[in-house]
Amino acid sequence: MKVAVMGYGVVGSGVVEVLQTNNKEIVKRSGQESVDIKYILDLRDFPGDPNEDKFIKDFSLIEKDEEISVVVETMGGLKPAFDFVMACLKSGKSVVTSNKELVAAKGYELLEAAKENNVNFLFEASVGGGIPVIRPMSQCLAANKIEAVAGILNGTTNFILTKMIDDNMDFAQALKLAQENGYAERNPAADVEGMDACRKICILASLAYEHHVYPDGIYTEGITNVTLEDVAYAKNWGGVIKLIGATEPVGDGEQISVYVRPCFVSSHSQLANVNDVFNAVLVRGDALGDSVFYGKGAGKLPTASAVVADVIDCARHIEKRKLFGWGPAKENFVADTMELPISAYVRFTSSNAQGAKDAITAKFGGVQELTRENQPENEKAFVVCAGSEKSLREELERLSGEGDFKLLSLMKIADF
Ligand code: HSE
Repeated sequence: MKVAVMGYGVVGSGVVEVLQTNNKEIVKRSGQESVDIKYILDLRDFPGDPNEDKFIKDFSLIEKDEEISVVVETMGGLKPAFDFVMACLKSGKSVVTSNKELVAAKGYELLEAAKENNVNFLFEASVGGGIPVIRPMSQCLAANKIEAVAGILNGTTNFILTKMIDDNMDFAQALKLAQENGYAERNPAADVEGMDACRKICILASLAYEHHVYPDGIYTEGITNVTLEDVAYAKNWGGVIKLIGATEPVGDGEQISVYVRPCFVSSHSQLANVNDVFNAVLVRGDALGDSVFYGKGAGKLPTASAVVADVIDCARHIEKRKLFGWGPAKENFVADTMELPISAYVRFTSSNAQGAKDAITAKFGGVQELTRENQPENEKAFVVCAGSEKSLREELERLSGEGDFKLLSLMKIADF
């Protein structure tokens, strides 16, 4: 079997390395006589690379070559990845991708194209790097109604938060270290502002609830505003701050909630002890209960591990199709986060901090006050429950119009 790899960056070069280093085992497990890389598509030159003879710059060579049955897309981004992947599927080639942006934006369309052309479109590496989660969700948990999916879905931000929590390291230093280790996206804003995690939770929500959930309009908040003071209050509360992407049905199940945001996570939660670049995805099924998938969510070889497993799966399923229950998008399927109830950590300063706390207590009922070392007199932090996030934000907005009240933080208390 001949394979083409499009994109020779961190993941693409890892795919080539794993396919060649473990070739004997891969061939045996694929059921093929051989699994060889024929082309590597990249616009850059790699002089001296051991695969120098395989590099091409012209995509049409792959598209037209009938010998190629599986194409690996590790280019990232939508352009030209979408056009290339679509062309491969239409020319009867299965495609494997690690590109979460592509899957989150075009997953349904590409799965339909794969169906029409009787080939496979597989994307295990698009969520959780090397952690098996797409296949377990679509196969092993297929008997369950999914009651919730919640995860630490971005290695870079988890690495940064871990360094802030454990080593008191500042944000910029920790980000630099994450970039040096090859965890961060080319533009790390996608990591620290939550977009990367948002794409991943959209993929998981689309699989779990069977309608394509697009990233646009999903409540997405990154970690750039998380401070060491928030970390200290979380510790006093009995937990840690994690960037959580989550989805679950709301009400009668006609809608789902989907969000990415920094959350207080209890130290009793399995997600609380997921540190450094590790990711974890908790899936709550009605029959199974909770199961947690944990492992390296980013990096060259961990991600390549998942990509190559998909290549093997394609090899085993030539002219057979792997099914995903991923249907088209549905209008109003995703509930407005602001209309949903929330249990939240709130921190503010005010010269009348007690008065502000009393006003919030009068409106929402009792609060659980939190403390930290060196807490200034004009600062208060507590946990409060509100019937909707909108009502809580409106009250905080009203207080902001009074005196010198300043809202510093508002984070959800996660219940996973
Ligand atoms: N930048 C991503 C992360 C890479 O840090 O998790 C894996 O998707």
